[in-house]
Amino acid sequence: MSRYRVRYALGFACLVAATGSSLAIPWTVKQAIDALQAQGRQAALGGYVTLILLCAAGNGVARLASRFAIAGGAQHVAADVLSRLYAAFQTFPPAVFARYSTGDLMTRAASDVSALRSLAGFGMISGASTALAFVGALAAMLAVDPWLTLWAMAPVPVLVLLVRGYNGVVTARTHAMQGRLDVLSTLVQERLAGMGVVRAYTMEARAAAEFAAANGALRDASTALARSQAHFTPLMGLVAGVGTLVVLWAGGSAVAGGRMSLGALVAFTGYLGYLAWPTVALGFTLSVVRRGLTSMERIQQVLEEARPAAPELPSARPDPRAPAISFAGLTFAYAGRGPVLQDVTFDVQVGEMVAVVGPTGSGKSTLGLLLARLWEPPAGTVFVGGADVTTLSLDRLRAALAWVPQDAFLFSRALRDNVSLGREDVEPAAVDRAGTAAGVAEEIAAFTHGWDTVVGERGLTLSGGQRQRVALARGIAGSPPILVLDDVFANVDSAKETEILAGLRAAAPTILLVTHRLRAAQSADRIVVLEGGRVVERGTHAALLAQGGLYARLWRMQRLEEEIARA
Ligand SMILES: Nc1ncnc2c1ncn2[C@@H]1O[C@H](COP(=O)(O)OP(=O)(O)O)[C@@H](O)[C@H]1O
Ligand SMILES: [Mg+2]
Repeated sequence: MSRYRVRYALGFACLVAATGSSLAIPWTVKQAIDALQAQGRQAALGGYVTLILLCAAGNGVARLASRFAIAGGAQHVAADVLSRLYAAFQTFPPAVFARYSTGDLMTRAASDVSALRSLAGFGMISGASTALAFVGALAAMLAVDPWLTLWAMAPVPVLVLLVRGYNGVVTARTHAMQGRLDVLSTLVQERLAGMGVVRAYTMEARAAAEFAAANGALRDASTALARSQAHFTPLMGLVAGVGTLVVLWAGGSAVAGGRMSLGALVAFTGYLGYLAWPTVALGFTLSVVRRGLTSMERIQQVLEEARPAAPELPSARPDPRAPAISFAGLTFAYAGRGPVLQDVTFDVQVGEMVAVVGPTGSGKSTLGLLLARLWEPPAGTVFVGGADVTTLSLDRLRAALAWVPQDAFLFSRALRDNVSLGREDVEPAAVDRAGTAAGVAEEIAAFTHGWDTVVGERGLTLSGGQRQRVALARGIAGSPPILVLDDVFANVDSAKETEILAGLRAAAPTILLVTHRLRAAQSADRIVVLEGGRVVERGTHAALLAQGGLYARLWRMQRLEEEIARA
């Protein structure tokens, strides 16, 4: 906020000037009427009229300037908050993404930021003008006639009580409405993302019913909020009207009794008239402020989830002579679950290809996630180039190691951009080479637009296997010293798999190949077998087969499956 101090200070100064000029008008009217009564035709009315015109013009200009200053500031505030939010999203550890749904985060970035913008703009202007109007008018009325001011203040206790009650109701209803909006956005986002499943299981009717229920809940919550506002505004009008009546009655008899000048009474009604609009609009102002504050809290909550800057050691960097990857007594559990990896210890030397195999759920993918630090491993258990990954800066880690996940995500961009990801060191030629190494270049060349083909949202216009191999090309394209592949051959036939594997050894010196398909592991220098999160066997393909343990059993089973598939 501090960067906008000048803008807001200027805005408030203009609001003070505008309030001063408005309040000077009834005062001048009083002087004019008093002069008329005392001097009749001799009164210098022209001077008063000029003064009133000047005040009105001053008020107009100052108010306009205050709106420019503050409303403009609000746009900057909102833009800044939005970029801070986006920056925070990017640092979220997976545990936070597990806690907030995408729809919820989108609501906070859209509707909450917009409510905050209204608070920083209209809310500030209206709140400050209202406060200035009440304080200024009170001071002016006290200066004109303290006794009549007391009468005019008679409805104030009622006003205070009403405002308090209203504030409580609006706060509760705003929270309720924002909650409903979160639910609805999450529902829409999920259903759109999973439209294929919705259609495949003919869930449309149920999905529509669920949407209708969530939509109805949001409508009811919004209506409740609007209703409280609708009740409040006429009530405030009534309060303002009663004040004017009281002043007319008490002030009128004072003027008749000669205790007060007619000019003073006219000035008084002028001030009350001036207060009428801020009073009536109080409900609206308060609800904008309330909504803005609620949204600010919700945004703050998300900002606080941002990962605190990792305790990086500037000196920590991978050493090309140390083992490329090493796990040392790694035990890891996801939040609130039992351990999925227990005391895992093994190394991958520079230039080696090591395969990690095991049944599904044995913790293979978790190894990759920890290496890429998408989940944080315990300190002193996972090393890349001899450096503890928790002490490496993410830039250095990413430069040393490319991780290709099991479920390939493609952006709705050209295939070429999906591979280069905007990295400056990846030239078009490197994209082609990576595509060839990943065994997808031929298929892409057959597309009408080749590498410039735009992938549909989430890569839906490619087959699963093509998607995986484009993701593999993305991993290779940056020429990483270490490549970590998580089951990337799941949707590729075995002939293709063998061909790609042969090419890969040329593309990356060191490879950690995570796979449940033993055929792919066969050509590795060493194989590590995981079961239930523990390393149960290790050795070369031949040695493991001879050992006759889990690996040999899995191998026989998969050969059998292949034969059945071929038959
Ligand atoms: N984000 C997560 N939160 C909690 N548990 C998880 C998460 N990801 C995986 N798991 C659990 O960890 C275990 C190992 O999963 P994973 O490493 O994916 O195994 P694999 O790749 O060998 O099939 C499984 O039991 C899975 O349910
Ligand atoms: Mg897996």
